[in-house]
Amino acid sequence: MPRSSPSLAKLELTGVSRDFGSVTALDGLSLTITGGEFIALLGPSGCGKSTALNCLAGLLPLTAGQITLDGKRVDTQPAEKRGFGMVFQNYALFPHLSVERNVAFGLKMRGVGKSEIRDRVQEALQLVHLEHLARSHPGQLSGGQQQRVAIARAIVLRPPLILMDEPLSNLDAKLRLEMRTEIKRLHQELGLTTIYVTHDQEEALSLADRLVLMKDGKVQQIGTPEELYAKPVTPFVADFMGFRNQIPGTDSFTFADATWTSDSTVTGASIAMCRPEDLRVGVPQNAIEVTVEVVEYHGRQFLLEVRTESGLALHAVSPEALAPGDKVKVGVAPDRLLVFGS
Ligand SMILES: Nc1ncnc2c1ncn2[C@@H]1O[C@H](COP(=O)(O)OP(=O)(O)O)[C@@H](O)[C@H]1O
Ligand SMILES: [Mg+2]
Repeated sequence: MPRSSPSLAKLELTGVSRDFGSVTALDGLSLTITGGEFIALLGPSGCGKSTALNCLAGLLPLTAGQITLDGKRVDTQPAEKRGFGMVFQNYALFPHLSVERNVAFGLKMRGVGKSEIRDRVQEALQLVHLEHLARSHPGQLSGGQQQRVAIARAIVLRPPLILMDEPLSNLDAKLRLEMRTEIKRLHQELGLTTIYVTHDQEEALSLADRLVLMKDGKVQQIGTPEELYAKPVTPFVADFMGFRNQIPGTDSFTFADATWTSDSTVTGASIAMCRPEDLRVGVPQNAIEVTVEVVEYHGRQFLLEVRTESGLALHAVSPEALAPGDKVKVGVAPDRLLVFGS
């Protein structure tokens, strides 16, 4: 069914901006999306993700820039004319309508014939594994099931673009993982161009073909999951992608020459960053003497909070149990260390 949806070849955002009075919520977003791509808009709360999505949907007018779909301007069109599918965090279902009527609603509004509605609703409910609950009401469903209804309601319209705003945020951890896989499976099956907003880097990495990382309304980096995971371009991006350890170059210890001085662009007050899982007890390179302060059990290893003699707190891992107060050396392989110039 939705394979025959009006396929989108190219969605282009050029300098898309939105102000709220003195607040610039979105500041010059430029992005070209290819049909079938799954794009994640990622960043901390308040960075402008929902604003970007609402501008795309037509729920908010732009204050600058333009959006074109296959060369045709859409930012001047009202939301209903754009016809994008939306899935929100709070599901936004009609409580008084059955599941099948919720899913059928948009088709009815568009004047689709009765038998076609029946077929399409059935197919959409099959896709999200909810055929057996077609006659239930939203209040009788779990959060995960309600979100499936919301997804069915979006895909049944065969939209050129699906927009999702933190759709899994209201679900508990286990359901969130299940629904994440479900969304990935649907995208693989239907190939619908999707823009997915989240503040969860793991969710973004696992779902998206490309990530757009934002801060204060501005794009910080656009790239594949592998690029953002391994090659963040700024300390902000690195921190957001899990490089929790920040070591200022002016601190009283220095890292092995290889990393610090071989990079000729690094001068003055640079910082080195690494992931907790790469700063390990027993790794001899770039070793630092630290005192263990907190030990957390994490299955195969222990996550440590440690402190250097100069007072810097770091996160590291150990294969063996340690106790607060223990003095150990933690080290990081040079290729696992990111160095940023000032
Ligand atoms: N309707 C509004 N009126 C005023 N300020 C708003 C409005 N909507 C969002 N903002 C502001 O714009 C910024 C971005 O918000 P938002 O797009 O909701 O961020 P995110 O979805 O990334 O958490 C925030 O500073 C927020 O307070
Ligand atoms: Mg938001």
